[in-house]
Amino acid sequence: MDSSLGSIRLIFLGLLIIASIHPNFFCSGDYEVHCIKSEQHALLKFKQHLKDPLNRLASWASDGDCCQWAGVVCHNVTACLILLVVENFLTDDGQHEVQYEAYVQSMFGGKINPSLLDLKHLNYLDLSNNDFSGTPIPKFLGSIGSLRYLNLSNARFVGVIPHQLGNLSNLYYLDLQGYGLYANNLQWLSGLPSLQHLDMSHVNLRKASDWLQVTSKLMSLLEFRLSDCELRFIPSTPNGNFSFLVSLDLSGNFFENTFIPLWIFGLPNLVSFDLSDNGFQGPILDDLQNMTSLKHLYLSGNHFNHQIPIWLYSFSHLKFLDLHSNNLQGTISSAIENLTSAISIDFSYNELGGKVPRSLGNLCNLREIKLSSNKWSQEISEILESLSGCLSEKLEILELTDAQLLGHLTGELGMFKNLVKLTFVYNSISGPIPMSLGNLSSLRVLDLANNQFKGSLPQNFGQLSKLETLFIESNMLEGVVSEVHFSNLTRLIELFAFGNRLTLKVSHDWIPPFQIEELNLQSWNLGPKFPQWLCSQRNLRRLDISNTGVLDVVPLSFWDSSSQFEYLNLANNLFHGEIPYCPMILSTSSVIDLSSNHFNGPLPCISSNVIVLDLSNNSFSGSISHLLCFKVNEPKQLGFLNLEKNHLSGKIPNCWTKWKKLEFLNLGNNNFTGNIPASIRSLTLLKSLRLHNNKLSGKLQSSLKNCEKLENIDVAENEFFGSIPSWIGHKCSSLMILNLRSNNFHGHIPEELCALTSLQILDLSHNKLSGSMPTCVKNFSAMATKNISNHDMSFRFTSSYDEILPRESALLVIKGRIFEYSTIL
Ligand SMILES: *[C@@H]1O[C@H](CO)[C@@H](O)[C@H](O)[C@H]1NC(C)=O
Ligand SMILES: *[C@@H]1O[C@H](CO)[C@@H](O)[C@H](O)[C@H]1NC(C)=O
Ligand SMILES: *[C@@H]1O[C@H](CO)[C@@H](O)[C@H](O)[C@H]1NC(C)=O
Ligand SMILES: *[C@@H]1O[C@H](CO)[C@@H](O)[C@H](O)[C@H]1NC(C)=O
Ligand SMILES: *[C@@H]1O[C@H](CO)[C@@H](O)[C@H](O)[C@H]1NC(C)=O
Ligand SMILES: *[C@@H]1O[C@H](CO)[C@@H](O)[C@H](O)[C@H]1NC(C)=O
Ligand SMILES: *[C@@H]1O[C@H](CO)[C@@H](O)[C@H](O)[C@H]1NC(C)=O
Ligand SMILES: *[C@@H]1O[C@H](CO)[C@@H](O)[C@H](O)[C@H]1NC(C)=O
Ligand SMILES: *[C@@H]1O[C@H](CO)[C@@H](O)[C@H](O)[C@H]1NC(C)=O
Ligand SMILES: *[C@@H]1O[C@H](CO)[C@@H](O)[C@H](O)[C@H]1NC(C)=O
Ligand SMILES: *[C@@H]1O[C@H](CO)[C@@H](O)[C@H](O)[C@H]1NC(C)=O
Ligand SMILES: *[C@@H]1O[C@H](CO)[C@@H](O)[C@H](O)[C@H]1NC(C)=O
Repeated sequence: MDSSLGSIRLIFLGLLIIASIHPNFFCSGDYEVHCIKSEQHALLKFKQHLKDPLNRLASWASDGDCCQWAGVVCHNVTACLILLVVENFLTDDGQHEVQYEAYVQSMFGGKINPSLLDLKHLNYLDLSNNDFSGTPIPKFLGSIGSLRYLNLSNARFVGVIPHQLGNLSNLYYLDLQGYGLYANNLQWLSGLPSLQHLDMSHVNLRKASDWLQVTSKLMSLLEFRLSDCELRFIPSTPNGNFSFLVSLDLSGNFFENTFIPLWIFGLPNLVSFDLSDNGFQGPILDDLQNMTSLKHLYLSGNHFNHQIPIWLYSFSHLKFLDLHSNNLQGTISSAIENLTSAISIDFSYNELGGKVPRSLGNLCNLREIKLSSNKWSQEISEILESLSGCLSEKLEILELTDAQLLGHLTGELGMFKNLVKLTFVYNSISGPIPMSLGNLSSLRVLDLANNQFKGSLPQNFGQLSKLETLFIESNMLEGVVSEVHFSNLTRLIELFAFGNRLTLKVSHDWIPPFQIEELNLQSWNLGPKFPQWLCSQRNLRRLDISNTGVLDVVPLSFWDSSSQFEYLNLANNLFHGEIPYCPMILSTSSVIDLSSNHFNGPLPCISSNVIVLDLSNNSFSGSISHLLCFKVNEPKQLGFLNLEKNHLSGKIPNCWTKWKKLEFLNLGNNNFTGNIPASIRSLTLLKSLRLHNNKLSGKLQSSLKNCEKLENIDVAENEFFGSIPSWIGHKCSSLMILNLRSNNFHGHIPEELCALTSLQILDLSHNKLSGSMPTCVKNFSAMATKNISNHDMSFRFTSSYDEILPRESALLVIKGRIFEYSTIL
């Protein structure tokens, strides 16, 4: 980010260390600095109570010199320990799961031992990015009076901030940002007159109504951040005048002020101002126009809904301008060329229109331009032309998502030599993908998805050696993709390319240069052989190769690695052969879809973590007992189980008590016998129960009485008998479909069915029912008016991974079928 703020921080850190140079009575004045015993002792005690999962404090051994230990700095003259950093050097970028896991694993935790009080000259203490979860900030920290720098950010402390911190009268830096902390007032801050940097973002300050009165009197304050603190109101007159404030962040508080108080606009030295995510309305206030020294201005996530004010373009120092997610109208003025310092401009998610001015191309320092989700009335080539000035040389990020762009991409793209990220997703760009894309050798993210690109994938894609993410799904690409297309893509981790007509032709023993994590090639032509190269991908977590024309067995080594998947979709191919039998556990994945293949043999066992399992329309045979009764006492996460259209037989076992999350159960079109087992009663979340076309018999038992959530009961084409239970009318009040066709039910139709006001389909035909039709038929109002196909029960199992909720095929099939009541009499 901006270097001026960073250098302020550095300068002051320098001061801290110089300031503590006075030789000290307690610490030896030897030039060859060795650790002071009492301090070494204190550190070892501190370490004892610390959890250090990766043993990062291995150097802290009792016989060492503590001045040499990791995270420790001693004064170069006095040997007094002045700096202690037990932070987690990893951070979470909020994007990469792998990185997040590493971050979590390397956190320190445990307790903070008061032995730190023995470090009498400690200047600098950094415990950030750790997990001291559940414990409050220790009060005794307030007694380390020598501290000038205290960083407890994101350390997962909870509870009230101890007012004892207000005793740290030498503090320059205080960083307490993170979730879980709160303060009822900030009075204690007035004990920190030297404070230059204060960050309490995410701390709950809902009750600290004195926040402004206290902080505005901190005469040294340079940087001040209270983002997302549940502040409700900015008082109109502060007590002090913040005369040195350089940076102010009040984002994410949803203030109830109608106007932004004037004192803010009068802050003479402000360089960075963040008022984003606050819900302010109306025009961007003219009062801002005096703040011409601003370098950072963040006003995103409000409801500013007029034009971008013309005076804003005269802020010649502005480097970062973020106005995204407002309702800004009108056009971008050609005066934008006056923002000569601009490095990053974000206008996305507004209602801007017209043409992107050509003068934008004159911003020679611009590295990011985000214009997504507006209403540009221009062809893509025109926009690229507008950006073709000196801007094109440094530009790293160009975002034009969902911007109603038409036209073709031309070779001009090749001039953005330093592009790192390019997104054109959700437009109507047509024509071929130009060869020149292959020249963008810095590219890491390329998103061309959901357009109308035609033709083949240029071969020189294979040169994009930095490419990590490639999204080209839902276009009209066709032709052959070969090894050349991937030749230098060593860093590729995500490839989404479904919804094209592409054919992959690689040699049988191809080993890709990448280790991919997410791969979706749905509807490509990959067959007929199994894509053996998948077995080389050790980090693959999500894989969709459904409908790719593979006619083969799945190699054993693939199943062996199946536990790495979170999502596995092999549906609609011609896979055959058996899946390794229990106790081999198929995958810890959340979603497994192997439907519509020719898999045969016994059902596999699945891990208790699976959420969706679809094995329908295969040739699995034998019993389902081992699948259902596997680890019978372990709670299962499964919400959707579809085993329809197989050759399964035997009884349905009485093993349902741990499948409490199940909402959709389809065992239809098999050869099951016996009756419905009693433990079905455990499935209290069940919405759909489909057992049609089996040889099940017995009476519809009271075990179905737990059916408040059931919307669909389909037991057609079985051998059930007895009368239609009258309790269905009262207990199963959500029922939309009741299909009892072709069984041996007898007796009369209970009047109680009339209570089923949501019923849309009732099929009682081909039974042995007698008596008269209930008079309430016409009361089934839902039946006549509602549109089943539009009902939210018809889940999609889309090819994007976002939705793991599966389709409910039953409801799609029944669409348009008629109410068959009359045929039974
Ligand atoms: C100790 O550090 C200070 C500040 O960095 C430096 O000015 C001084 O020369 C150093 N003294 C010795 C003996 O290294
Ligand atoms: C505190 O630590 C965090 C994470 O290590 C860092 O991002 C932040 O800049 C630090 N705060 C200060 C005031 O130096
Ligand atoms: C620390 O602050 C508390 C109140 O905030 C006060 O009662 C106490 O005397 C102070 N301790 C020292 C050592 O200054
Ligand atoms: C800010 O307040 C201080 C102390 O109250 C005062 O000396 C100074 O003149 C004020 N500055 C401005 C610009 O008002
Ligand atoms: C902006 O500057 C003008 C002229 O210097 C001044 O009259 C006005 O009060 C200032 N506005 C704010 C909000 O400080
Ligand atoms: C942009 O700069 C030009 C030349 O310096 C100047 O004439 C024009 O008024 C400026 N426009 C705005 C909106 O500041
Ligand atoms: C791309 O690079 C090739 C050489 O690698 C060059 O011949 C071609 O002109 C470049 N294309 C563009 C559009 O820059
Ligand atoms: C792949 O990269 C290597 C080294 O960077 C380079 O020599 C080679 O020409 C590249 N191959 C292709 C096909 O771009
Ligand atoms: C069942 O799978 C076959 C191929 O094995 C496929 O042709 C058919 O469409 C599938 N049926 C359903 C209902 O999905
Ligand atoms: C069910 O079993 C019968 C006889 O055992 C067999 O003829 C039939 O093919 C089986 N049906 C299915 C769908 O497996
Ligand atoms: C059917 O609807 C009529 C009015 O539309 C109502 O009077 C009657 O009670 C309803 N019958 C049942 C069984 O709900
Ligand atoms: C039912 O859906 C169709 C198409 O999905 C639509 O055209 C029709 O208007 C809908 N009918 C009702 C009553 O919602």
